[in-house]
Amino acid sequence: MKNFINNIPKAELHLHIEGTLEPELMFKLAKRNNIKLEYKTIDEIKNAYNFTNLQSFLDIYYSGAKVLQTEQDFYDLTYEYLKKCKENNVIHTEIFFDPQTHTARNIDFKTVILGITKALEDGKNELAISSKLIMCFLRHLSQEDAFKTLDEAMKFKEKIIGIGLDSSELGNPPAKFKDVFKKAKELGFKLVAHAGEEGSYEYINDALDLLNIHRIDHGVQAINSDKLMQRLKDKQIALTVCPLSNTKLKVFDDMKEHSIKQMLDYGLNVTVNSDDPSYFGGYMNDNFHAITNSLNLTKEDIIKLVKNSFNSSFITKEEKQNFI
Ligand code: HPA
Ligand code: ZN
Repeated sequence: MKNFINNIPKAELHLHIEGTLEPELMFKLAKRNNIKLEYKTIDEIKNAYNFTNLQSFLDIYYSGAKVLQTEQDFYDLTYEYLKKCKENNVIHTEIFFDPQTHTARNIDFKTVILGITKALEDGKNELAISSKLIMCFLRHLSQEDAFKTLDEAMKFKEKIIGIGLDSSELGNPPAKFKDVFKKAKELGFKLVAHAGEEGSYEYINDALDLLNIHRIDHGVQAINSDKLMQRLKDKQIALTVCPLSNTKLKVFDDMKEHSIKQMLDYGLNVTVNSDDPSYFGGYMNDNFHAITNSLNLTKEDIIKLVKNSFNSSFITKEEKQNFI
């Protein structure tokens, strides 16, 4: 089973590039950019990754991102992740980036996006990994700030396939971003949003009704509403589930309590993803191994999960030819 999981070609649909910053690279970039870290050793960093909820993670995650300063830094970050894709046999990946985390520190939008996309181009040519880029708005900031970010992104529109919504879910409901998502839809972007990670299943309904999204990121709280489960099944709306993230952030106390198998058996279009692998203790294969061991998944389950990812990706029909 272990080899089966490792060897099957996979697609990843929920991955924050800032969440792939490994402690080793954090140290290297801090040194290169003359930035003082709060930590003295890699072990000290790893010990700090002891989260109690989403916010306790986000505080450390935003702080870690401060070492990212130059286009080369964003290139290195992205290329390191693509090497992990290769190791995990992830052949297609749809990557989130959070421009506001960087523009708020006076790093140009251009610096961020050019560093990331140059690495994606090299990753395609040198590692044969195909990719798409999704720009997320930080939901703890205002809709006005999101509009400004959307405006800045328009210079690079051809590099961005979609728009997402992440950061602190509780208290920042989908309704807050209704207008900017409407605008993004008019501009032709695909739409996704984090919903029902820590927040109630109502946020999933709202993300579908008010933001018109194509996929739900996380969505594990759907299990608390029969009506929503039926809706997600009927429409086959993809849920990009992140098992190790959910246990690390105490959405579930134990992997044995994770809802993914129940949702899969019910007939939902669920997928497996790594979210912020450097912070949550594992890349794609680790996520598959963890659920397989705790929830007794079969080979058929694994195949279904992997197929769901490719089918729910933003790969065009023409691009799909390359995967066959
Ligand atoms: N949830 C919300 N915001 C995030 C996450 C997440 O899992 N990872 C990075 N930003
Ligand atoms: Zn996420």
